Amino acid sequence: MPRALITGITGQDGLYLAELLLSKGYEVYGFMRGQNNPKRELVETTLPDVKLLTGDLTDLSSILRALDSSKPDEFYNLGAISFVAYSWENAHLTSEVTGLGVLNALEAVRLYSKDDPSKVRFYQASSSEMYGKVQTVPQNEDTLLWPRSPYGVAKVYGHYMTINYRESYGMHASSGILFNHESPRRGPEFVTRKISQAVSRISLGLQKDLSLGNLDARRDWGFAGDYVDAMWRMLQQDTADDYVISTNETHSIREYLDLAFKHVGIEDWTPYVKQDPRFMRPAEVDLLIGDSTKARTTLGWEPKVDFPSLVAMMVDSDLAEQKRLAGL
Ligand code: NAP
Ligand code: GDD
Repeated sequence: MPRALITGITGQDGLYLAELLLSKGYEVYGFMRGQNNPKRELVETTLPDVKLLTGDLTDLSSILRALDSSKPDEFYNLGAISFVAYSWENAHLTSEVTGLGVLNALEAVRLYSKDDPSKVRFYQASSSEMYGKVQTVPQNEDTLLWPRSPYGVAKVYGHYMTINYRESYGMHASSGILFNHESPRRGPEFVTRKISQAVSRISLGLQKDLSLGNLDARRDWGFAGDYVDAMWRMLQQDTADDYVISTNETHSIREYLDLAFKHVGIEDWTPYVKQDPRFMRPAEVDLLIGDSTKARTTLGWEPKVDFPSLVAMMVDSDLAEQKRLAGL
């Protein structure tokens, strides 16, 4: 039975990846921040077969202990402070967790695998946020990185450190440059979930309006369930490498609003949406659109859920949850 250790197990991708690996017969270990984590219960009830280990990416010895306990064949490093807007307010902490945390994870795997540098296959959760002020359209593995947020800068550090460990020590370390991916499990601070929650509440008469920032930014949005499959495929290759994972389509926040409101029968959303400068960012990533040709040809991966289905899935899930919460 293959074994996997996942950091960020309590997050959106951690849950989908653990589900996928369990369905493939893996023994799955989840690395989770320690004492009294409010998300422990979520993992325990959703995925009771996942074995939880406590630790923190800023604590090298806790990662080493987790490696000793789980003896994994594959290590998926999904843990990060991942909310871009927050990263300006907490730039140092974001750098420590999202940037230096990757170094800790790589170093722990290197120390643990001294007898055979490719004993543990390593996946790093890199991000399209690294493209920032985009230098080519669409963006692929060769596009120059130009991050526009402390989060993006920290991800660039982790990305290059992963490549450096692969080249320096012969580690099987791959980096997935994933474009935005969403789902009903997305945190409510991210724009897609913020909208799907608000739209469902507005349609049920539980909320009057919704405040947002920049409506003109464009993202290449896919479904998280499809994207974790790409992570797994990367670690099944004989040679480690870096891959862009994207739908190759771009849509604005306005287009997401169009589809989400139409889904509940509201044609004109303008009376319900307010723009609030509090949600504008000091520097914006205006346009993301990926070119995932390499992953499609080498990994045989392709996304299954398209943009309208993703929006419908998220609104339907929030409608059901809001009805349940309101006892409707
Ligand atoms: P998420 O829902 O925000 O989950 C982040 C996870 O990191 C949570 O489990 C969190 O645990 C954990 N974490 C935070 N600080 C930690 C620390 N100091 N030590 C250990 N774990 C820590 O993010 P996601 O959407 O699943 O994304 C997974 C990864 O992919 C992240 O690295 C993200 O930056 C990257 N990524 C995401 C996207 C996307 O569109 N979703 C795109 C590209 C890359 P707690 O529950 O304890 O906070
Ligand atoms: N969160 C949020 N809240 N975003 C808003 C809002 C709002 O009220 N109004 C407009 N936006 C715009 C943001 O300015 C941004 O241009 C876009 O919506 C998407 O914001 P997020 O959903 O917060 O995601 P992100 O693109 O900044 O970052 C996500 O994707 C990255 C990959 O490109 C995160 O998951 C990152 O961790 C990930 O690396």
